[in-house]
Amino acid sequence: MIKFPKDFVWGVAAASYQIEGAATEDGKGLSIWDMFSRIPGRTFQGNTGSIACDHYHRSKEDVAMMKQLGMMAYRMSVAWPRVIPDGTGAINAKGLQFYDQLVDELLAAKIQPYITLFHWDYPYELYCRGGWLNSDSPKWFADYVKIVVEKLSDRVVHWMTLNEPQVFIGYGHHLGHHAPGVTYGMTELLRAGHHVLLAHGLGVQTIRAHSKSQAQIGYAPVGVVKMPQSDKPAEIETARHATFWVDPKNTWNNAWWMDPVFLGKYPDQGLKAYEQHLPAIKPGDMETIAQPLDFFGCNIYNGVYVRATKEGGFEEVPAKTGMDFTAYRWPVTPASLYWGPKFFYERYQKPVYMTENGLSSMDWVCLDGKVHDPMRIDFLTRYLREYARGGAEGVDIRGYFQWSVMDNFEWADGYRERFGLVYVDFPTGKRTPKDSAYWYSNVIKTNGANL
Ligand code: FCB
Repeated sequence: MIKFPKDFVWGVAAASYQIEGAATEDGKGLSIWDMFSRIPGRTFQGNTGSIACDHYHRSKEDVAMMKQLGMMAYRMSVAWPRVIPDGTGAINAKGLQFYDQLVDELLAAKIQPYITLFHWDYPYELYCRGGWLNSDSPKWFADYVKIVVEKLSDRVVHWMTLNEPQVFIGYGHHLGHHAPGVTYGMTELLRAGHHVLLAHGLGVQTIRAHSKSQAQIGYAPVGVVKMPQSDKPAEIETARHATFWVDPKNTWNNAWWMDPVFLGKYPDQGLKAYEQHLPAIKPGDMETIAQPLDFFGCNIYNGVYVRATKEGGFEEVPAKTGMDFTAYRWPVTPASLYWGPKFFYERYQKPVYMTENGLSSMDWVCLDGKVHDPMRIDFLTRYLREYARGGAEGVDIRGYFQWSVMDNFEWADGYRERFGLVYVDFPTGKRTPKDSAYWYSNVIKTNGANL
């Protein structure tokens, strides 16, 4: 039988820019995503998050819906330029009030808010001042964190600093597929990355210093998972090695973004791989970055099978012909929710929260008025069973946040991808819970025993 720990937290996740809309209302400043999505050709069909799910105006309805579905927790993010329109300086009271009320509504519905302080909607004004390349950027972040924490921490206990630095640095500042859409070289990337890590550390210090309750703090990088094809110890060792290996050609890895935070140092192999491009590390930087954390959060959607090469390295196993894909063409690899948490727990020894996991599928409202999404139910069942398997073997799993509570603005892919448990008809804003929403509600009720 599938078993999850007692007190396991079942939730859903979303992010400010992807659902809120109200892009210029009530004094909100512009974010890099507002600017980027307006540039012709940058997003699918020119979609923007200007209205998105209109959650800014429908938050009461959305909380009521989550309550009805039995959610225990909601991972949400705060839009920095809604709170501080220029990124630093004057505070927008109305923006802060939106989150204040949302937190009250969630708590009244017995849903615990888990707040991500930065999920990519970086203030445009700060981007114009160099953004993450500016050595003041960690301090800008910490000043913003202080405002949010002072306002909400009498009620909010769980915080995450940054969502997926690998993506907002790699896609946003290297490939240019995401906002701000620039294509820095490796040296600039790693300098920006060092500031991002410092921002995380200063952010944690700020939460600890200003929280009015006993804060529980984590981080939400991507979990880039490499998997063995069998349980043979040598194959597992190859996958473990690959999971923490740093590719000199890009910043798509775990160790560069996790080791400094959890172990207080950049990985040796990474320092070698990036030798030509290393950022200046000032005395005290690594101590700032490595603040004690309460949990290890990470987002896992899939993994890659690897095998050893004769030369002692590893290579990806060629994909099976006719492999299983989601609508996004992401591979279906349930075992990533076993191997990922296992490898991360071994290395970092922190309680694990899956801060995102899910899929986009081809959903529409059927003739009977319902949204039937059997593939989502099958996908999540497979993944959750694997997550539980790690838990049964000793990985300290504490929670799971399904991405996403509702269909939303999927960044450069706009409204093409439907990741939600709840279907959103974007022209009208109408919400329709999909079959999977009712199914997930039962998973929560039985603490996973029906899986
Ligand atoms: C993750 C992002 C999240 C969402 C999912 C599908 O990389 O954190 O905002 O777009 O992918």
